[in-house]
Amino acid sequence: MSQSIESHLNEKRVFKPTKQFSKAARIQSLEQYRQMWEESIKRPDKFWGREAAELQWQKKWTKVLDWKEPYAQWFVGGQINVSENCLDRHLNTVRQNKAAIIWEGEPGEKRVLTYQQLFREVCRFANVLKRNKVKKGDRVLIYMPMIPEAAVAMLACARIGATHSVVFGGFSSDSIRDRIADCKAKLVITTDGGYRRGSIVPLKKNVDDALREGAHGVQKVIVYRRAGNEVHIEEGRDVWWHREMDYVDGHCPAEALDSEHPLFILYTSGSTGKPKGILHTTGGYLMQAYATSKYVFDLRDEDVYWCTADIGWVTGHSYVVYGPLACGATSLMYEGAPNWPENDRFWRIIEEYSVSVFYTAPTAIRAFIRWGDQWVKKHDLSSLRLLGSVGEPINPEAWMWYHQVIGGGRCPIVDTWWQTETGAIMITSLPGAVPTKPGSATLPFFGVDPAIVDEKGQEVGPNVGGKLVIRKPWPSMLRSIYGDKARYKKTYWSEVKGCYFAGDGARRDKDGYFWIVGRIDDVLNVAGHRLGTSEVESALVSHPAVAEAAVVGRPDELKGQGVVAFVVLKSGMIVEPHLREELRQHVGQVIGPIAKPDDVRFADALPKTRSGKIMRRLLKEIASGKAVTGDTTTLEDLSIIAQLTANND
Ligand code: WTA
Repeated sequence: MSQSIESHLNEKRVFKPTKQFSKAARIQSLEQYRQMWEESIKRPDKFWGREAAELQWQKKWTKVLDWKEPYAQWFVGGQINVSENCLDRHLNTVRQNKAAIIWEGEPGEKRVLTYQQLFREVCRFANVLKRNKVKKGDRVLIYMPMIPEAAVAMLACARIGATHSVVFGGFSSDSIRDRIADCKAKLVITTDGGYRRGSIVPLKKNVDDALREGAHGVQKVIVYRRAGNEVHIEEGRDVWWHREMDYVDGHCPAEALDSEHPLFILYTSGSTGKPKGILHTTGGYLMQAYATSKYVFDLRDEDVYWCTADIGWVTGHSYVVYGPLACGATSLMYEGAPNWPENDRFWRIIEEYSVSVFYTAPTAIRAFIRWGDQWVKKHDLSSLRLLGSVGEPINPEAWMWYHQVIGGGRCPIVDTWWQTETGAIMITSLPGAVPTKPGSATLPFFGVDPAIVDEKGQEVGPNVGGKLVIRKPWPSMLRSIYGDKARYKKTYWSEVKGCYFAGDGARRDKDGYFWIVGRIDDVLNVAGHRLGTSEVESALVSHPAVAEAAVVGRPDELKGQGVVAFVVLKSGMIVEPHLREELRQHVGQVIGPIAKPDDVRFADALPKTRSGKIMRRLLKEIASGKAVTGDTTTLEDLSIIAQLTANND
């Protein structure tokens, strides 16, 4: 948690939308927002029916919602294709020759794909998938850098009804292997490599390593040549993207898919076990991705919209690809790091392409603050009209800097709360309607009914902290955890009766504004990326020297949370100087570099209660350098606290 309830209870600043912005916006006042929200809650069929009718359906639904807790079906009986809505729908309109994707590679190459061109690439690649025996319902794993072909791959899967699972390019071969096994992927799409801070990440090699051991059902690997690095090509299994494209034509009708057809599986960390495959389906997901892009970013045909998220995360799915393209917007994609070759890369891009809507994460904003205003001042950012934030609570200081230094004091900020599981934005301000308060995600989006409840599930009063829950199903909600309905029900629908439990703590102020505090389960949010403490723990114990490990978060000025690992070595092992770094590297290899602990501490044992439970509260206090307070009487061996605290170097 990067901020406590106390720290933002004192936040009193309010920023009203400017008249100029409101006048041109879709939702122009708080009253209009409230009216529409009331309608969306009281008459969801009418409200969502109207929104969904803006999309192109191959067959109209017979019923908007079928709800048998915890299972929802939206637009029952309807048939729709996501890629048709993102592409075909804009052809034969003025958008046909408009930029769909503007791309810049880290080394500096530039590409623009119009809707017509993107359509053609997607149709051809969909035929490549078919040629390689991918059928409706098959799972396809995508492990690619931020290049237009990543979007092409996703849209091509959607076109033929294959379910994609994108794995973030920063994840290791072990992570790829686990995901392939869990979703039983038939085909993998990757590149030779991708650029990151000037060096090449060997993506294809990671795929090779993932496929080397164990039984798996992957029959083909399609490799796009991006970085030109040398790769191994396995005869009979691996094929080159560009060669395959030569065999096919550009004609591929969009498959008519049931509204509940699985569109994608995206793995995310939970409080227990391995990452879970969050399952999203077609009609409801697309509609909410579309409606939120339209209302929250208030997208216009003139906009150049840039969401900096990687397609490996849900934000990249909903707000780089599906939402903006369904709106017919221009979506900018950048491949690399914000500080390559220098700290002003983002501002350079905004200036060069006249970006007007910019959506990024608080952890990035805090890094920009640290790098200094001089990098921003070198560039003309006057094209910006709207700013967005996502991924973790934004501290008021970062909010103010974003507002003043990036937004020149004139751009509204939409702080959007949502999750991999929710599929699309859930709590947010609408830029022309809702006054903002630095640090608050403000009010629920249409059709979303959140509340704050206590331990017993009772709603609490203003400014009392509690669990954030959602009381009604929403169109883009996850439908299940892939292959594990029981876990789906237990994780999300059992904690608070009749409600979806988000795993976050929050409070609501007297104006009804939500202030999200952060995760209250064993999930960390490191630089906007979710990480389960148990995942890091099992990575640590897979090292031959480690007997036991416990992982907790500690506040981190830049990343929101940092990772602290408490480690007990196997008997006979001694703490050698290099071991700390070795364990960090080991975790990096097993999960990915983002999971490397910031701090590793050794002890003879972990603090446990007499019944054997690890005392995490105590470890969190030690990790954040606080004095150990509260009840330690159940602790088995008090000397351990002294050891763990002393180990602080
Ligand atoms: C956190 C990212 C505060 C939260 C879209 C949530 C936020 C987790 C915000 C989901 C926000 C996301 N304010 N906290 N605006 N947005 N979070 O699944 O803890 O990667 O549960 O989805 O990020 O992370 P995920």
